[in-house]
Amino acid sequence: MNALITARGITKHFGATKALDGVDLDVFAGEVHVLLGENGAGKSTLVKVLAGIHDPDDGTIERNARLAVIHQELALVPELSVAENLFLNRLPRRFGLVDRAAMRRRAPELLDRVGLRVHPDAKVRDLGIAQQQMVEIARALDQDAGVLILDEPTAVLTGTETDRLLEIMAQLRDNGVGLVFITHHLDEIQRVADRITVLRDGRSVGVLGPRATTRHMIELMVGRPIDEQYPREQQEAGEPLLRISGLTRSGAFEDVTIEVHAGEVVGVAGLVGAGRTEVARAAFGVDDYDRGTVEVDGKPVRRHDVQAAIRAGLGLVPEDRKGQGLVLTGTVGQNLELATLANRDPRRLREIADRLRVKGHVDQPVRELSGGNQQKVVIGKWLLADPKVLILDEPTRGVDVGAKVEIYELVNRMTAQGRAVLLVSSDLPEVIGMSDRVVVMAHGRVAGELPKGATQDQVMALAVQESTA
Ligand SMILES: Nc1ncnc2c1ncn2[C@@H]1O[C@H](COP(=O)(O)OP(=O)(O)OP(=O)(O)O)[C@@H](O)[C@H]1O
Ligand SMILES: [Mg+2]
Repeated sequence: MNALITARGITKHFGATKALDGVDLDVFAGEVHVLLGENGAGKSTLVKVLAGIHDPDDGTIERNARLAVIHQELALVPELSVAENLFLNRLPRRFGLVDRAAMRRRAPELLDRVGLRVHPDAKVRDLGIAQQQMVEIARALDQDAGVLILDEPTAVLTGTETDRLLEIMAQLRDNGVGLVFITHHLDEIQRVADRITVLRDGRSVGVLGPRATTRHMIELMVGRPIDEQYPREQQEAGEPLLRISGLTRSGAFEDVTIEVHAGEVVGVAGLVGAGRTEVARAAFGVDDYDRGTVEVDGKPVRRHDVQAAIRAGLGLVPEDRKGQGLVLTGTVGQNLELATLANRDPRRLREIADRLRVKGHVDQPVRELSGGNQQKVVIGKWLLADPKVLILDEPTRGVDVGAKVEIYELVNRMTAQGRAVLLVSSDLPEVIGMSDRVVVMAHGRVAGELPKGATQDQVMALAVQESTA
């Protein structure tokens, strides 16, 4: 059978970095071909070479089908509408003019296909990050390509949206499309993969079949086994360090009360739109609220004042690293220092970068790092600041299995030193595995709280309950 794409001996350097080193890859019609590898292994670089964005330094590529690519970093124009973004660079035209009627007709069909319920005229900047990702997917689906490449589309999606995407992918495969799929969620790989090419340090180190175990995948990609994926070490809980009481912002969240004690990790679970991120941002002073109080270590924190929150001992790792977490043109070192302008000890910077295994130099611009390594820098910055209370909002999005464990170990270290952590996460195994108790939010309210050892079903039962408002 003829491959849709045949790549042989692909090598690509960026300065002194060898991102790809003699990689071979075939993509056949009717297969889901997964690319698996640690952060910085070369997956996105390979995608860009396949797509013709980067020229390889060495090697050959034969393309026998049209390619559509969903890149890791979203490529939407925030100021344009959903419909305009769907047809960006290929607007339907009639008599040389943009055919807005055709656009209006087709946009809802496309949105329906991915199950996204937003108005086609809505501005993309007003959508959540998961919704933006679904717009990207809808746009790629409309291109009737023979090969569809998806670079970590599920990193920002929750369970239901991921299920939908995996179903669409299976349909496309059955229709003879060749898919290349990148994800750090090993369970997704087990659900859809026909073949798995594992990259390590820019080389292909093995091709696995669909029945590969997670243990085998991890060993090949990381080079060593990982015994405990969620190594939470529980501490005796001390005094309350964070007290969010009756926090209310009309239309966003209502009467939210959450306490986190010294030494504790409290998880916050819920569906997209449940109000978790909104509460985290309000507590940290990014956004205002109407009623309620936030106290850190017994003292009230002035509302809508990030500087006051930081002085009080709060930290927030935001969910949107590109928009809020990083200065992309700055170096790794400069970004790590951002939260701690007082504490510029170059040894500490290097130590934290090493612990998180950030692949890149302290003096390298952050935009040159792979997606997962950028995320590690955002987390490293707040770990260095060592706040009394750290709020983590989707901290391990796009982070590989090995580096996740390093982040969890650092969370353990914080709580062992009497700090408190509020862990907002859509990753159910993570929020259950790393939290000492889990608060579940639904429709802007706290729907319930579950003790350590809760099951995914128990969390979901609370998360999906009907609105009583
Ligand atoms: N434009 C660039 N300039 C310099 N170095 C780069 C550039 N793009 C990628 N690199 C380097 O190439 C290597 C591979 O990066 P790549 O983005 O392909 O990793 P990845 O496997 O996609 O990782 P992740 O899982 O974090 O997305 C990394 O060391 C990265 O820093
Ligand atoms: Mg990548």
